[in-house]
Amino acid sequence: MKKLVLTTLVAAATAVTLSAASFASCAACHGQKAEKKALGKSAIIAGWDVAKTTAALNGYKDGSYGGAMKGVMKGQVMKLSDADIADLAKQIAAM
Ligand code: HEC
Repeated sequence: MKKLVLTTLVAAATAVTLSAASFASCAACHGQKAEKKALGKSAIIAGWDVAKTTAALNGYKDGSYGGAMKGVMKGQVMKLSDADIADLAKQIAAM
């Protein structure tokens, strides 16, 4: 029984970790609803349309976008796939 509970917990934890496209990892800086200026520096991204967010995130990836603190965002986006970025952009547009 204990083993079953443990397995279930591990499975649940893995599911959360695998959804890299969850905004939860962004919320620490951008706010739960993307309503904050991240580290007091970024634009408020809540409601940005999908194309704008996608362009920004891909730009951070290839170094063609960003301001003084773009290094912070580069670290965030390098682990995201195109599908993750599309997913996040949709979530942000709905905030
Ligand atoms: C450690 C804090 C931190 C985390 C975590 C973080 N960001 Fe950012 N984000 C920033 C900062 C700082 C900027 C402004 C960077 C710059 O100078 O271009 C920024 C900028 C942005 C911008 C562009 C806004 C602008 O000002 O042009 C977008 C879009 C964005 N972040 C999305 C995300 C997403 C999506 C995630 C999660 C995958 C995320 N961020 C995680 C700190 C963070």
